Amino acid sequence: MAQIICAGNWKLNKNSLEAKNFVAELLTLVESNEQSHFVLFPPALIAASVQQALQASEVRWGLQNCYSENQGAYTGENSAGVAKSMGASLCLIGHSERRQIFKEDNEFLSRKLQFVQSLGMVPVLCIGETLEQREQKRTNQILSEQLKVGLSQANKQQSIWVAYEPVWAIGTGKIATVEMVQEAHGFIRATLNEMGFQAGHIPLLYGGSVKPDNSKELAKLKDVDGFLIGGASLEAKAFVQIYRNALLS
Ligand code: PGA
Repeated sequence: MAQIICAGNWKLNKNSLEAKNFVAELLTLVESNEQSHFVLFPPALIAASVQQALQASEVRWGLQNCYSENQGAYTGENSAGVAKSMGASLCLIGHSERRQIFKEDNEFLSRKLQFVQSLGMVPVLCIGETLEQREQKRTNQILSEQLKVGLSQANKQQSIWVAYEPVWAIGTGKIATVEMVQEAHGFIRATLNEMGFQAGHIPLLYGGSVKPDNSKELAKLKDVDGFLIGGASLEAKAFVQIYRNALLS
């Protein structure tokens, strides 16, 4: 699948020097016409180093999280406007770690998403069910709620990406089966269509223990347009190998 996107979510990992070394290695491994398929989500504090290292390339970067306002009395928060002025073009919204550890709910995430769009940046709405919800056969209900509320204030004319990340597959080495991934992605695409989005134009990324040895079979799936990669994005060789193997699908 030639259009595959590989997005690396570094979470709270890497310092400035490690980030610069990573980017230098990435740019030697990737052909210039492939650069636009790669995206990095570094921790905000090292974004300037990443931006500088990526400057002459087509690799995009974004924030892992932001607040729903640009500035004000919001101690400790990230400004998407500042990130945009530094060169960021995307922002993750509602990663499961934000939902679970920081208790961010769908309404709050919808305000962030709307705000990110208002700046002309691309929000990447992350959705996914917990193991308990899957076992209770509530996966579609949860995904539908996360989409309907999370996108309730979205501008349908502007770009949005969606990442499906089953919570139980994140950082656990447990990969969802290809059937589970296609079923969820198909459901997400259909729900987006029902909601009036041009779902065919919305990149749907899969995330959760994506590695070089499973990207090929996942990339074969009709509704998988790319990956959101945590652990395996910390090492440039593995990150690029995920992309190379996906191309073989
Ligand atoms: P993982 O993380 O690849 O380490 O499972 C994915 C994510 O949290 O985005």
